[in-house]
Amino acid sequence: MFFSCSLSELLSLKHPVTKSDGSLNILVVGDWGRLGGYNQSAVAAQMGIVGEQLDIDYVISVGDNFYSDGLNNDTDPAFEASFSRIYTHPSLQKRWYSVLGNHDYRGNVSAQLSQVLTQKDWRWFCRRSFVISSGMVDVFFVDTTPFVNEYFTDPEDHTYDWSNVLPRNRYISNLLDDLDLALKKSRATWKFVVGHHGIKTAGEHNVTQELIDQLLPILEDNKVDLYMNGHDHCLQHIGSDGGIQFLTSGGGSKAWRGVILPWDPKELKLYYDGQGFMSLHITQSQVKFIFYDISGNVLHQFTI
Ligand SMILES: *[C@@H]1O[C@H](CO)[C@@H](O)[C@H](O)[C@H]1NC(C)=O
Repeated sequence: MFFSCSLSELLSLKHPVTKSDGSLNILVVGDWGRLGGYNQSAVAAQMGIVGEQLDIDYVISVGDNFYSDGLNNDTDPAFEASFSRIYTHPSLQKRWYSVLGNHDYRGNVSAQLSQVLTQKDWRWFCRRSFVISSGMVDVFFVDTTPFVNEYFTDPEDHTYDWSNVLPRNRYISNLLDDLDLALKKSRATWKFVVGHHGIKTAGEHNVTQELIDQLLPILEDNKVDLYMNGHDHCLQHIGSDGGIQFLTSGGGSKAWRGVILPWDPKELKLYYDGQGFMSLHITQSQVKFIFYDISGNVLHQFTI
């Protein structure tokens, strides 16, 4: 008999449930860190208002945390200028669970993962891949940038910080084994997966074929409810009844690209090309997600 041989299991942490009915409210934002520019500050202000209304438990960042090239080191002033001094509303003084995006990989990855940032701002929690458990929901955060072939043969000649990723095939197979195991062990009512890159998207970056081939079968096999990503700077919901819902929340700052690729209208339930963010409301019997624009208008909501 063969056992899968994984170097490490996914880091798994508990986020306490504080509401007496066990429910959980979360905000999701991506593609944001631009020193407040491109309406990052306006999105942040609106997140503060919605975060207060919902009394949120934590925030999920779906990556591309610091433009254009991540952080230089753990004393990079962009950390305060794009994070601590932007998301200042009292309701946003919660944990921020973050994954890395491709732009973060263009900088110093170990700086973004450093405890020094968490000492500067206790909200900051960024790892490559990990699990956050809160009673009825487990959220699995997956490092998707190493999956994308293009970054290893980048025609635009960007440099990426692949330290601790190479050899790439082993990194990816360990990650997929660990994720599959963690999903199979999960007893949560709801299972969400978070990554930077879209699996299904009509945005300009298009679907990520590497994730369709390698990650999606594991999500389907383990009956994941939601996959959430950024990368395309838009707000988007693609889904079919009873299947995985694919949610893009990449409207944290620069948006309005003006590109939408053809997609089956029966599946494409929202495509909004502008800035905004998303909320999740989780109870034992249902999950509701809502997309908001920069003024707090509800663009779309859906319940599973
Ligand atoms: C990356 O950041 C870490 C933490 O600040 C620092 O120790 C290291 O020297 C940096 N690496 C480079 C190449 O600048």
